[in-house]
Amino acid sequence: MQRAGVSAAALALCLPMPLLAQETADAAAQPAAKAVERTENGLARTPPMGWNSWNKFACNVNEAIVRKTADAMSTNGMRDAGYQFVVIDDCWHGERDDNGFIQADGKRFPSGIKALSDYIHSKGLKLGIYSDAGRQTCGGRPGSQGHEYQDAITYARWGVDYLKYDWCNTGTRNAQEAYTLMADALRSTGRDIVFSLCEWGNNDPWRWGVTVGNLWRTTGDIMDRWDGQHKYSLGIMTIVDRNAPLYPFAGPGHWNDPDMLEVGNGGMTDTEYRAHFSLWAMMAAPLIAGNDIDAMDEKTRTILLNKDVIAIDQDPLGQQAQRVRDDGDKEVWSRDLADGGRAVLLLNRGPAPATIKVDWSEIGYPNSLRADVRNLWTHRSEGRKRGSYAASVPSHGVVMVRVQP
Ligand code: GLA
Repeated sequence: MQRAGVSAAALALCLPMPLLAQETADAAAQPAAKAVERTENGLARTPPMGWNSWNKFACNVNEAIVRKTADAMSTNGMRDAGYQFVVIDDCWHGERDDNGFIQADGKRFPSGIKALSDYIHSKGLKLGIYSDAGRQTCGGRPGSQGHEYQDAITYARWGVDYLKYDWCNTGTRNAQEAYTLMADALRSTGRDIVFSLCEWGNNDPWRWGVTVGNLWRTTGDIMDRWDGQHKYSLGIMTIVDRNAPLYPFAGPGHWNDPDMLEVGNGGMTDTEYRAHFSLWAMMAAPLIAGNDIDAMDEKTRTILLNKDVIAIDQDPLGQQAQRVRDDGDKEVWSRDLADGGRAVLLLNRGPAPATIKVDWSEIGYPNSLRADVRNLWTHRSEGRKRGSYAASVPSHGVVMVRVQP
């Protein structure tokens, strides 16, 4: 070809100069294509509250259980106390249809998820669902890998309000990329869907999760025990010790998730369950009940419905408590509240009752200050205290108070 050897510069020289100058000026005036900055999705300004099927029912979940739970939550005070999401965890899935759209397991969910969703919404509650960033979920059901946008559209059509996204069978996938892909897919639907990251803290999600999701698991799975570890399952003291140092990363819209509650599942004493619930509230953790709501006893109900403790969890400042003193078995935790008060927790991990004392200087007040102390489990005033407060704390128990100058 005649012009093959003609350079771009030579061609440019053939152009009339004013035109070339004009194009250059136009190009300079155009802003360079900018990378789109990720922003938060604006949801979950306080830690999500609700119920999830896994801790009690595991893969035995079905439509009847979910309906009964929604019925109970809407009449037993839970909904009105803030428990909002009814989350179906693993094992609701059937196969994908010929076009790749996920179907519910027709035996367990004969009415389908849309009908269940309508039912849950009619009770003034919201629906959560579960999937996985791998080819299969942890329970061996179809995962979302390769179907992210298709699944997000399906969830939005069903009226899903919350997605828990697990991390089994993900091979060599990069977690940040995989979770960001699903976050974008969810956002592209235009529906408000709270996004719960569940990669167990393996990839430091607190470092990149703020603009990806609303909560991220910080540990392996909870077990209904005070302490210890069994394979991937951790007792609550083990979880607390892993979640505690992550306090700087929690705040409105993005929460550390030390896993769902075991309150009422039978493996701990009521004293221990009160400590579990109190610690989760102090840590601004999602309060996702994991027991059989329809059949719970009065003691369990009293714990889950303690509005004074829930108010600490849901405090709008969204600050996760810090352990301000650790004397072995005796600990003091504190968090600042939006009204300038403090929530203070005295925790006794030891085998016998113990007296634990907090000085005001440990919670950011001068010791000369007088402050009202209100006990959040007895719901009684402990009086006006100057400089400190001390209480006897049962073994494996807590005393939780609100300190108000
Ligand atoms: C993982 C998660 C659990 C639960 C199960 C379901 O273990 O961490 O919370 O969702 O999968 O299989």
